[in-house]
Amino acid sequence: MELKNDLLLRTARGEKTERPPVWLMRQAGRILPQYRALRGKLSGFKELVETPHLAAEVTIQPVDELNVDAAIIFSDILVIPEAMGCEYQMIEKKGPWFPSTIQGMEDVKALRTGKEAADDLHYVYEALKITKQELAGRVPLIGFTGAPWTLLSYMVEGSGSKTFSKAKKFLYTQPEAAHALLEKLTDTIIAYVNMKVDAGADLIQIFDSWAGILSPEQYKEFSLPYINKIAASVTRVPVTVFAKNAWFALQDMTDTDCDVIGLDWNTRPEFARNILGPDQVVQGNLDPCMLYSPFDNIEKKTKEMIDAFGGHHIVNLGHGVYPDTPLDGVKCFVNTVLNS
Ligand code: CP3
Repeated sequence: MELKNDLLLRTARGEKTERPPVWLMRQAGRILPQYRALRGKLSGFKELVETPHLAAEVTIQPVDELNVDAAIIFSDILVIPEAMGCEYQMIEKKGPWFPSTIQGMEDVKALRTGKEAADDLHYVYEALKITKQELAGRVPLIGFTGAPWTLLSYMVEGSGSKTFSKAKKFLYTQPEAAHALLEKLTDTIIAYVNMKVDAGADLIQIFDSWAGILSPEQYKEFSLPYINKIAASVTRVPVTVFAKNAWFALQDMTDTDCDVIGLDWNTRPEFARNILGPDQVVQGNLDPCMLYSPFDNIEKKTKEMIDAFGGHHIVNLGHGVYPDTPLDGVKCFVNTVLNS
Protein backbone atom coordinates (compact mmCIF):
# COMPACT_ATOMS: atom_id res chain seq x y z
CA MET A 1 0.00 0.00 0.00
CA GLU A 2 1.28 3.45 -0.91
CA LEU A 3 2.08 5.78 1.99
CA LYS A 4 0.10 9.02 2.19
CA ASN A 5 2.74 10.56 4.46
CA ASP A 6 6.27 9.40 3.72
CA LEU A 7 8.13 12.40 5.20
CA LEU A 8 10.05 10.15 7.60
CA LEU A 9 11.30 7.85 4.86
CA ARG A 10 12.21 10.63 2.45
CA THR A 11 14.17 12.37 5.21
CA ALA A 12 15.85 9.12 6.28
CA ARG A 13 16.98 8.55 2.68
CA GLY A 14 18.63 11.96 2.66
CA GLU A 15 16.06 13.85 0.58
CA LYS A 16 15.17 17.47 1.30
CA THR A 17 11.61 17.79 2.59
CA GLU A 18 9.02 20.53 3.05
CA ARG A 19 9.31 20.26 6.84
CA PRO A 20 11.05 17.85 9.22
CA PRO A 21 9.10 14.75 10.30
CA VAL A 22 8.34 14.29 14.00
CA TRP A 23 7.66 11.33 16.31
CA LEU A 24 8.59 10.52 19.92
CA MET A 25 10.44 7.58 21.36
CA ARG A 26 8.01 5.82 23.77
CA GLN A 27 5.04 7.62 22.20
CA ALA A 28 3.06 4.36 22.47
CA GLY A 29 2.66 4.17 26.21
CA ARG A 30 1.67 5.74 29.44
CA ILE A 31 1.50 9.40 28.32
CA LEU A 32 -1.79 8.48 26.62
CA PRO A 33 -4.96 8.05 28.72
CA GLN A 34 -6.26 5.54 26.16
CA TYR A 35 -3.11 3.40 26.74
CA ARG A 36 -3.51 3.54 30.51
CA ALA A 37 -7.18 2.57 30.23
CA LEU A 38 -6.44 -0.48 28.08
CA ARG A 39 -3.38 -1.47 30.13
CA GLY A 40 -5.45 -1.30 33.35
CA LYS A 41 -7.75 -4.04 32.08
CA LEU A 42 -4.92 -6.50 31.38
CA SER A 43 -2.90 -8.91 33.49
CA GLY A 44 0.31 -7.03 32.74
CA PHE A 45 2.69 -5.53 30.21
CA LYS A 46 3.50 -8.83 28.53
CA GLU A 47 -0.15 -9.58 27.74
CA LEU A 48 -0.20 -6.36 25.72
CA VAL A 49 3.09 -7.17 23.97
CA GLU A 50 2.00 -10.72 23.13
CA THR A 51 -1.54 -9.99 21.91
CA PRO A 52 -1.17 -8.75 18.32
CA HIS A 53 -4.46 -6.87 17.92
CA LEU A 54 -3.92 -5.03 21.24
CA ALA A 55 -0.30 -4.20 20.38
CA ALA A 56 -1.59 -2.83 17.06
CA GLU A 57 -4.22 -0.75 18.84
CA VAL A 58 -1.72 0.99 21.15
CA THR A 59 0.72 1.45 18.27
CA ILE A 60 -1.89 3.51 16.41
CA GLN A 61 -3.12 5.51 19.45
CA PRO A 62 -0.39 8.19 19.22
CA VAL A 63 -0.96 8.58 15.47
CA ASP A 64 -4.64 9.35 16.15
CA GLU A 65 -4.04 11.50 19.23
CA LEU A 66 -0.86 13.40 18.34
CA ASN A 67 -0.72 13.41 14.50
CA VAL A 68 2.90 12.25 14.55
CA ASP A 69 4.59 11.33 11.26
CA ALA A 70 5.37 7.71 12.23
CA ALA A 71 4.07 4.80 14.26
CA ILE A 72 6.47 2.58 16.22
CA ILE A 73 5.36 -0.98 16.84
CA PHE A 74 4.41 -1.61 20.45
CA SER A 75 6.76 -4.26 21.83
CA ASP A 76 9.94 -4.42 23.88
CA ILE A 77 13.63 -4.98 23.22
CA LEU A 78 13.58 -7.86 25.74
CA VAL A 79 11.59 -10.21 23.49
CA ILE A 80 14.91 -11.17 21.88
CA PRO A 81 16.61 -12.55 25.03
CA GLU A 82 13.37 -14.40 25.74
CA ALA A 83 13.25 -15.99 22.28
CA MET A 84 16.85 -17.13 22.85
CA GLY A 85 15.86 -18.86 26.10
CA CYS A 86 16.41 -16.13 28.69
CA GLU A 87 12.91 -15.36 29.97
CA TYR A 88 12.08 -11.89 31.35
CA GLN A 89 9.38 -10.59 33.65
CA MET A 90 8.15 -6.99 33.78
CA ILE A 91 7.67 -6.12 37.44
CA GLU A 92 5.14 -3.33 38.05
CA LYS A 93 6.82 -0.04 39.02
CA LYS A 94 10.26 -1.71 38.95
CA GLY A 95 10.98 -2.74 35.40
CA PRO A 96 12.51 -5.82 33.79
CA TRP A 97 13.73 -8.81 35.79
CA PHE A 98 15.38 -12.05 34.60
CA PRO A 99 14.89 -15.11 36.83
CA SER A 100 18.14 -16.57 35.48
CA THR A 101 21.09 -14.64 34.08
CA ILE A 102 24.07 -15.36 31.85
CA GLN A 103 27.14 -16.13 33.95
CA GLY A 104 29.61 -17.57 31.45
CA MET A 105 30.30 -19.57 28.31
CA GLU A 106 28.21 -22.59 29.38
CA ASP A 107 25.11 -20.39 29.62
CA VAL A 108 25.87 -18.76 26.27
CA LYS A 109 26.21 -22.15 24.61
CA ALA A 110 22.76 -23.20 25.81
CA LEU A 111 21.01 -20.26 24.08
CA ARG A 112 19.03 -20.62 20.87
CA THR A 113 20.05 -18.30 18.05
CA GLY A 114 19.33 -17.08 14.52
CA LYS A 115 16.11 -17.87 12.68
CA GLU A 116 15.24 -20.69 15.07
CA ALA A 117 15.01 -18.17 17.92
CA ALA A 118 13.49 -15.34 15.87
CA ASP A 119 10.71 -17.61 14.57
CA ASP A 120 9.37 -17.72 18.13
CA LEU A 121 8.35 -14.07 17.91
CA HIS A 122 5.37 -14.71 15.62
CA TYR A 123 3.20 -12.37 17.75
CA VAL A 124 5.45 -9.43 16.83
CA TYR A 125 5.21 -10.11 13.08
CA GLU A 126 1.46 -10.56 13.42
CA ALA A 127 1.17 -7.23 15.28
CA LEU A 128 3.11 -5.49 12.49
CA LYS A 129 0.82 -6.97 9.82
CA ILE A 130 -2.35 -5.90 11.64
CA THR A 131 -0.92 -2.43 12.32
CA LYS A 132 0.05 -1.96 8.66
CA GLN A 133 -3.44 -2.94 7.61
CA GLU A 134 -5.15 -0.65 10.12
CA LEU A 135 -2.84 2.29 9.38
CA ALA A 136 -3.87 1.99 5.72
CA GLY A 137 -0.85 3.99 4.59
CA ARG A 138 -1.36 6.99 6.91
CA VAL A 139 2.26 7.01 8.17
CA PRO A 140 5.29 4.70 8.05
CA LEU A 141 5.65 1.97 10.66
CA ILE A 142 8.95 1.72 12.57
CA GLY A 143 10.23 -1.68 13.70
CA PHE A 144 12.95 -1.82 16.34
CA THR A 145 15.47 -3.94 18.18
CA GLY A 146 17.82 -3.53 21.08
CA ALA A 147 21.51 -3.43 20.14
CA PRO A 148 23.42 -6.61 21.08
CA TRP A 149 25.41 -4.81 23.80
CA THR A 150 22.29 -3.36 25.48
CA LEU A 151 20.60 -6.77 25.41
CA LEU A 152 23.72 -8.46 26.80
CA SER A 153 23.70 -6.00 29.67
CA TYR A 154 20.17 -7.03 30.71
CA MET A 155 20.92 -10.75 30.27
CA VAL A 156 24.06 -10.59 32.44
CA GLU A 157 22.85 -8.03 34.97
CA GLY A 158 19.37 -9.57 35.30
CA SER A 159 17.61 -6.22 35.74
CA GLY A 160 18.10 -2.51 35.25
CA SER A 161 21.04 -0.97 37.08
CA LYS A 162 22.64 2.43 37.66
CA THR A 163 26.12 1.22 36.72
CA PHE A 164 25.64 -2.08 34.87
CA SER A 165 28.91 -3.03 36.53
CA LYS A 166 28.18 -6.78 36.31
CA ALA A 167 27.72 -6.46 32.57
CA LYS A 168 30.91 -4.38 32.22
CA LYS A 169 32.79 -6.83 34.44
CA PHE A 170 31.68 -9.61 32.07
CA LEU A 171 33.37 -7.79 29.16
CA TYR A 172 36.62 -7.36 31.12
CA THR A 173 36.78 -10.83 32.68
CA GLN A 174 35.12 -13.06 30.07
CA PRO A 175 35.65 -11.35 26.70
CA GLU A 176 35.35 -14.62 24.78
CA ALA A 177 31.99 -15.45 26.30
CA ALA A 178 30.92 -11.84 25.73
CA HIS A 179 31.77 -12.02 22.03
CA ALA A 180 30.08 -15.41 21.72
CA LEU A 181 26.91 -13.96 23.26
CA LEU A 182 27.07 -10.83 21.09
CA GLU A 183 27.42 -13.06 17.99
CA LYS A 184 24.38 -15.10 18.97
CA LEU A 185 22.36 -11.97 19.68
CA THR A 186 23.42 -10.46 16.36
CA ASP A 187 22.41 -13.56 14.39
CA THR A 188 19.02 -13.61 16.09
CA ILE A 189 18.47 -9.89 15.55
CA ILE A 190 19.39 -10.12 11.86
CA ALA A 191 16.71 -12.78 11.34
CA TYR A 192 14.27 -10.81 13.51
CA VAL A 193 14.56 -7.39 11.89
CA ASN A 194 14.39 -8.86 8.40
CA MET A 195 11.19 -10.72 9.34
CA LYS A 196 9.89 -7.42 10.67
CA VAL A 197 10.55 -5.87 7.27
CA ASP A 198 8.76 -8.83 5.64
CA ALA A 199 5.80 -8.08 7.94
CA GLY A 200 5.69 -4.41 6.91
CA ALA A 201 8.23 -2.39 8.91
CA ASP A 202 9.25 0.68 6.86
CA LEU A 203 12.35 1.55 8.92
CA ILE A 204 14.35 -0.24 11.60
CA GLN A 205 15.65 1.54 14.70
CA ILE A 206 18.41 0.00 16.82
CA PHE A 207 18.28 1.10 20.48
CA ASP A 208 21.67 1.03 22.21
CA SER A 209 20.38 2.48 25.46
CA TRP A 210 23.48 1.59 27.49
CA ALA A 211 26.09 2.65 24.93
CA GLY A 212 27.21 5.54 27.12
CA ILE A 213 28.45 3.40 30.01
CA LEU A 214 31.20 1.84 27.89
CA SER A 215 34.62 3.35 27.34
CA PRO A 216 35.29 4.41 23.74
CA GLU A 217 37.62 1.41 23.28
CA GLN A 218 35.04 -1.02 24.66
CA TYR A 219 32.33 0.53 22.53
CA LYS A 220 34.44 0.00 19.42
CA GLU A 221 35.11 -3.61 20.34
CA PHE A 222 31.85 -4.81 21.91
CA SER A 223 29.08 -2.75 20.35
CA LEU A 224 29.73 -1.00 17.05
CA PRO A 225 30.84 -4.00 14.95
CA TYR A 226 27.65 -5.86 15.86
CA ILE A 227 25.43 -2.86 15.16
CA ASN A 228 27.14 -2.56 11.82
CA LYS A 229 26.54 -6.21 10.98
CA ILE A 230 22.84 -5.75 11.69
CA ALA A 231 22.61 -2.50 9.71
CA ALA A 232 24.39 -4.11 6.76
CA SER A 233 21.87 -6.96 6.78
CA VAL A 234 18.92 -4.59 6.37
CA THR A 235 18.98 -3.68 2.71
CA ARG A 236 15.32 -2.93 1.96
CA VAL A 237 14.54 -0.10 4.41
CA PRO A 238 16.51 2.64 6.20
CA VAL A 239 18.16 1.99 9.56
CA THR A 240 18.47 4.37 12.53
CA VAL A 241 20.94 3.83 15.35
CA PHE A 242 20.21 5.50 18.69
CA ALA A 243 23.19 4.99 20.98
CA LYS A 244 22.51 6.95 24.12
CA ASN A 245 25.40 9.04 25.44
CA ALA A 246 27.75 7.73 22.77
CA TRP A 247 28.84 11.18 21.59
CA PHE A 248 32.42 9.81 21.62
CA ALA A 249 31.52 7.32 18.88
CA LEU A 250 29.76 9.70 16.47
CA GLN A 251 32.61 9.68 13.99
CA ASP A 252 32.76 5.86 14.00
CA MET A 253 29.03 5.65 13.42
CA THR A 254 29.38 7.39 10.09
CA ASP A 255 31.44 4.39 8.92
CA THR A 256 28.54 2.00 9.55
CA ASP A 257 25.64 1.16 7.24
CA CYS A 258 23.21 3.12 9.41
CA ASP A 259 21.27 5.80 7.53
CA VAL A 260 20.17 7.91 10.50
CA ILE A 261 22.08 8.71 13.69
CA GLY A 262 19.95 9.33 16.78
CA LEU A 263 21.23 11.87 19.31
CA ASP A 264 20.55 12.20 23.02
CA TRP A 265 19.93 15.55 24.71
CA ASN A 266 23.51 15.88 25.98
CA THR A 267 24.76 16.33 22.45
CA ARG A 268 24.75 19.87 21.11
CA PRO A 269 23.50 20.16 17.50
CA GLU A 270 26.62 22.17 16.60
CA PHE A 271 28.90 19.50 18.08
CA ALA A 272 27.15 16.74 16.13
CA ARG A 273 27.10 18.72 12.87
CA ASN A 274 30.82 19.49 13.26
CA ILE A 275 31.62 15.80 13.33
CA LEU A 276 28.91 14.49 11.02
CA GLY A 277 28.75 17.27 8.46
CA PRO A 278 25.61 18.96 7.08
CA ASP A 279 24.25 16.02 5.06
CA GLN A 280 24.19 13.22 7.66
CA VAL A 281 20.58 12.56 8.64
CA VAL A 282 20.16 12.90 12.41
CA GLN A 283 17.30 12.28 14.83
CA GLY A 284 16.57 13.92 18.16
CA ASN A 285 17.21 15.46 20.59
CA LEU A 286 15.13 17.74 22.82
CA ASP A 287 15.48 17.05 26.53
CA PRO A 288 12.33 15.05 27.44
CA CYS A 289 12.05 17.17 30.59
CA MET A 290 11.66 20.27 28.43
CA LEU A 291 8.07 19.09 27.86
CA TYR A 292 7.25 19.91 31.50
CA SER A 293 7.97 23.61 30.81
CA PRO A 294 5.49 26.33 29.69
CA PHE A 295 4.21 26.05 26.11
CA ASP A 296 5.98 29.17 24.84
CA ASN A 297 9.28 27.70 26.03
CA ILE A 298 8.60 24.30 24.39
CA GLU A 299 7.81 26.09 21.15
CA LYS A 300 10.92 28.28 21.34
CA LYS A 301 13.31 25.42 22.17
CA THR A 302 11.84 23.16 19.49
CA LYS A 303 12.26 25.85 16.83
CA GLU A 304 15.81 26.61 18.00
CA MET A 305 16.69 22.93 17.74
CA ILE A 306 15.27 22.63 14.21
CA ASP A 307 17.27 25.70 13.14
CA ALA A 308 20.45 24.44 14.81
CA PHE A 309 20.36 21.11 12.95
CA GLY A 310 19.64 22.94 9.68
CA GLY A 311 17.85 20.15 7.79
CA HIS A 312 18.38 16.41 7.28
CA HIS A 313 16.73 16.05 10.66
CA ILE A 314 14.00 13.85 12.14
CA VAL A 315 12.56 15.69 15.13
CA ASN A 316 12.37 13.61 18.32
CA LEU A 317 13.35 13.77 21.96
CA GLY A 318 16.81 12.86 23.24
CA HIS A 319 15.35 9.71 24.87
CA GLY A 320 11.91 8.25 25.52
CA VAL A 321 9.12 10.54 26.72
CA TYR A 322 8.54 10.20 30.46
CA PRO A 323 5.18 8.67 31.44
CA ASP A 324 4.07 11.65 33.56
CA THR A 325 4.65 14.25 30.82
CA PRO A 326 1.57 16.47 30.36
CA LEU A 327 -0.14 15.49 27.11
CA ASP A 328 -0.59 19.16 26.20
CA GLY A 329 3.19 19.66 26.43
CA VAL A 330 3.69 16.73 24.04
CA LYS A 331 1.08 18.17 21.66
CA CYS A 332 2.74 21.60 21.79
CA PHE A 333 6.07 19.98 20.77
CA VAL A 334 4.51 18.02 17.88
CA ASN A 335 2.37 20.92 16.66
CA THR A 336 5.37 23.26 16.61
CA VAL A 337 6.98 20.90 14.09
CA LEU A 338 3.80 20.29 12.08
CA ASN A 339 3.41 24.08 11.69
CA SER A 340 7.08 24.73 10.91
O1 CP3 B 1 6.46 3.85 21.87
C1 CP3 B 1 7.50 3.20 21.70
O2 CP3 B 1 8.63 3.71 21.66
C2 CP3 B 1 7.36 1.71 21.41
C3 CP3 B 1 7.42 0.84 22.50
C4 CP3 B 1 8.68 0.57 23.28
C5 CP3 B 1 8.61 0.05 24.59
N1 CP3 B 1 9.88 -0.31 24.99
C6 CP3 B 1 7.38 -0.15 25.37
C7 CP3 B 1 7.46 -0.20 26.83
C8 CP3 B 1 10.03 0.61 22.93
C9 CP3 B 1 10.67 1.15 21.65
C10 CP3 B 1 10.77 0.05 24.01
C11 CP3 B 1 12.23 -0.14 23.97
C12 CP3 B 1 12.93 -0.43 25.22
N2 CP3 B 1 12.55 -1.27 26.25
C13 CP3 B 1 14.23 0.08 25.54
C14 CP3 B 1 15.06 0.96 24.63
C15 CP3 B 1 14.64 2.36 24.67
C16 CP3 B 1 15.03 3.12 25.90
O3 CP3 B 1 14.11 3.58 26.59
O4 CP3 B 1 16.23 3.28 26.15
C17 CP3 B 1 14.59 -0.44 26.79
C18 CP3 B 1 15.87 -0.13 27.55
C19 CP3 B 1 13.53 -1.29 27.23
C20 CP3 B 1 13.48 -2.11 28.47
C21 CP3 B 1 12.34 -1.71 29.32
N3 CP3 B 1 11.01 -1.94 29.02
C22 CP3 B 1 12.40 -1.08 30.58
C23 CP3 B 1 13.68 -0.65 31.26
C24 CP3 B 1 11.08 -0.93 31.03
C25 CP3 B 1 10.64 -0.44 32.35
C26 CP3 B 1 10.78 1.01 32.50
C27 CP3 B 1 9.50 1.71 32.18
O5 CP3 B 1 9.51 2.59 31.33
O6 CP3 B 1 8.51 1.37 32.86
C28 CP3 B 1 10.22 -1.42 30.01
C29 CP3 B 1 8.75 -1.44 30.04
C30 CP3 B 1 8.05 -0.76 28.92
N4 CP3 B 1 8.35 -0.92 27.60
C31 CP3 B 1 6.92 0.09 29.04
C32 CP3 B 1 6.55 0.45 27.73
C33 CP3 B 1 5.40 1.30 27.29
C34 CP3 B 1 6.22 0.45 30.33
C35 CP3 B 1 5.00 -0.31 30.23
C36 CP3 B 1 3.93 -0.47 31.20
O7 CP3 B 1 4.16 -0.84 32.35
O8 CP3 B 1 2.78 -0.32 30.71
